[in-house]
Amino acid sequence: MTARTNLRLRGRFDPPGDKSIGHRLAFLAAISRGRSRLEAFPPGRDCASTLELIRALGVEVSEEGSRVTVVGRGLGGLRAPLSDLDAGNSGSTARMATGLLAGQSFDSRIVGDSSLSRRPFDRVVNPLIEMGGVFETTDGRLPLRVLGGHPLHGISYTLPVPSAQVKTAVLFAGLFASGRTIVRESTLSRTHTEIGLAGFGIPVVVTKGSVSIDGGRDPIGNEFRIPGDFSSAAFFVGGAACFPGSDLVVHGVGLNPTRTGFLRALRAMDADVEWETAPSPAGEPMGTIRVRGRELHGFTLDPSEIPSLIDEIPILAVVAAFAKGTTRLEGLGELRVKESDRLHAIQQGLIALGAYIEPLEDGLVIHGHPGELRPARLRSYGDHRMVMAWAIASLGVAGECEIDHLDQVKISYPGFWETLNRLLC
Ligand code: S3P
Repeated sequence: MTARTNLRLRGRFDPPGDKSIGHRLAFLAAISRGRSRLEAFPPGRDCASTLELIRALGVEVSEEGSRVTVVGRGLGGLRAPLSDLDAGNSGSTARMATGLLAGQSFDSRIVGDSSLSRRPFDRVVNPLIEMGGVFETTDGRLPLRVLGGHPLHGISYTLPVPSAQVKTAVLFAGLFASGRTIVRESTLSRTHTEIGLAGFGIPVVVTKGSVSIDGGRDPIGNEFRIPGDFSSAAFFVGGAACFPGSDLVVHGVGLNPTRTGFLRALRAMDADVEWETAPSPAGEPMGTIRVRGRELHGFTLDPSEIPSLIDEIPILAVVAAFAKGTTRLEGLGELRVKESDRLHAIQQGLIALGAYIEPLEDGLVIHGHPGELRPARLRSYGDHRMVMAWAIASLGVAGECEIDHLDQVKISYPGFWETLNRLLC
């Protein structure tokens, strides 16, 4: 990728539908009674994997542009798949499906690509075993066999790691279980499942630190407009914040506070960023972000914010390299088990760019010196979010950077390169 310095990001854009919300609504629609319409369904490969997976379970799904219609089969209506269920690169697809499949009368087997097959599944299987589910895993990883015909019962489960995917899998299993299922977490992870369940008519009790549902009640099909993906928007927001002269407006973007820790981090770095949430009587908060570029300053990340910006750490680290002074990012062990070992990928890439960093086992310290980064070969390890973070980094470097696996943006943001070219000036 060729880069010039002093590039700015200017203009307006609407990010594609939120991937995280798309998965949840598609799964819930599949087990609902009646028809659901999902507007602005995310265009990336990951959510396509979820649609393929529910189709393989006998669910009728039709797509018309970005509108997806799902004819739900109710809690008892999924059919045994004829072959393996392929989650591709998508951890959300595989983990949420595990929760859904645990309470079925039939067997199924979930597989994934080489990246997904390296990621841990014991974290999702363990609570489901407590609920009565039976599984065969490969060393706690995929392929994962889910054995049917084992009735589930509700449990009270405290998440050992803050993971919205695990919370979701347990709550999905709870829909099929007898009695009440309670998930407790010490740091609140994204609340899209709680909001989605309520949108399908399931009574959800949320207290500080816990969420509960009662099993045995069919979700009811409904219509939803999926907000723009904050995590996709974040690459451009981060770039605009640190390149002076930038001025960017993001429309229709999801602003659920459990996702927007990156905006709060940018504020802590003195960024000129504002956001406004449009009134949303029910459902997911969404609105507008405006960001203008100026000199940023290093900061220390508050660990309690990590779940709310977990997918934004790659772009946050890039922004920190363009800020003046020291940024401390710690408590990031979870990054090692994402689509790639993102901590390693970030550390290696920043070193290649000539940034002054101290790599830590669970994080890194970045001593930002804007203007001193040099062209480099940046490895993405096939990870969509690393490709996009390096694309933004390369804009601030004099000379040419080379990034591999450019095409991986299709996992979450197929229009990324087009939008980047349009906003660059
Ligand atoms: C997600 C939760 C996070 C996040 C992932 C999507 C979700 O993963 O990194 O991209 O949609 O629930 P964990 O649950 O592993 O933290």
